[in-house]
Amino acid sequence: MIGKDILGLRDLDAADIHRILDTATRFRAVSERAIKKVPTLRGRTVVTAFFENSTRTRLSFDLAAKRLSADVLGFSASTSSTRKGETLMDTARNLDALKPDAVIIRHGAAGAPHMLARAFPWSVINAGDGINEHPTQGLLDLLTMRDHLGDLRGRRVAIVGDVFHSRVARSDIFGLTKLGARVLVAGPGTMCPPELAELGVELRHTIDEVIEDVDVVMMLRIQRERLGRAMMASSREYARFYGLDLDRLRRARPDVLVMHPGPINRGVELAPEVADGERSVILEQVTNGLAVRMALLYLLLGRGAGEGGDA
Ligand code: NCD
Repeated sequence: MIGKDILGLRDLDAADIHRILDTATRFRAVSERAIKKVPTLRGRTVVTAFFENSTRTRLSFDLAAKRLSADVLGFSASTSSTRKGETLMDTARNLDALKPDAVIIRHGAAGAPHMLARAFPWSVINAGDGINEHPTQGLLDLLTMRDHLGDLRGRRVAIVGDVFHSRVARSDIFGLTKLGARVLVAGPGTMCPPELAELGVELRHTIDEVIEDVDVVMMLRIQRERLGRAMMASSREYARFYGLDLDRLRRARPDVLVMHPGPINRGVELAPEVADGERSVILEQVTNGLAVRMALLYLLLGRGAGEGGDA
């Protein structure tokens, strides 16, 4: 059930996910019109609270709320009173005093959005919490795959790289397994530990063990900011075992989809010719992110919210 908040794909079932993706498909049409704005959330207030860096996710939420005519206010930790020692709860109490309808939060601590969702009446959307989840990225990834592949049941998706520290990977894994896809993960041992198998994925060691036989390859950035130095060999060595270049891509199915949540470290996990090549759907992911975020804001705050209404 889609309730007050969107905290993770762990909490949604396949029907919820399809409902969000179907709604997103309808909202995609709004962004193709000359006037790209609908009055759906007029008079509603959406706050974007980013305690960690972001480009895509923040711009996308900001634009999604604006295209639905909500009033949007945003702050980032680097320019807010967080720098002066204010705690997350105190910041949230001050936001609450302004009576928002939804708060979109990105935070370095896993569980931060869940804490706010329990404590306050407004909707909380998780825009990435530590290494836990990034549900809107998971949903936009699923939408991009569904567009190209249709039903994902039985499809094979490889996630390659720093899977352990990636909240994107975790949300993708929950979403893909709920929709019946098979997920293979490959990465260095420290970034792909055996515990990941508990999430229902198959573990491999190198990209060469997965590349030939998958419908989608999702490449991940090494989350250097979440790693100890000892966990990482040189970028050149990493690219040799885990990077996707044209030689490896030639061994993949000719219709394979190459995906990446961004930001890309060009020449490390993805060769530039692959990132910009014809199998890449990386910018479609970004376009779909806007539609997914419009759909979620609509489902949580729009007229149909809480009544099972639809777009
Ligand atoms: C990711 C994130 O912040 O989790 N980026 C994103 O939101 N698209 C992935 C990353 O930082 O590597």
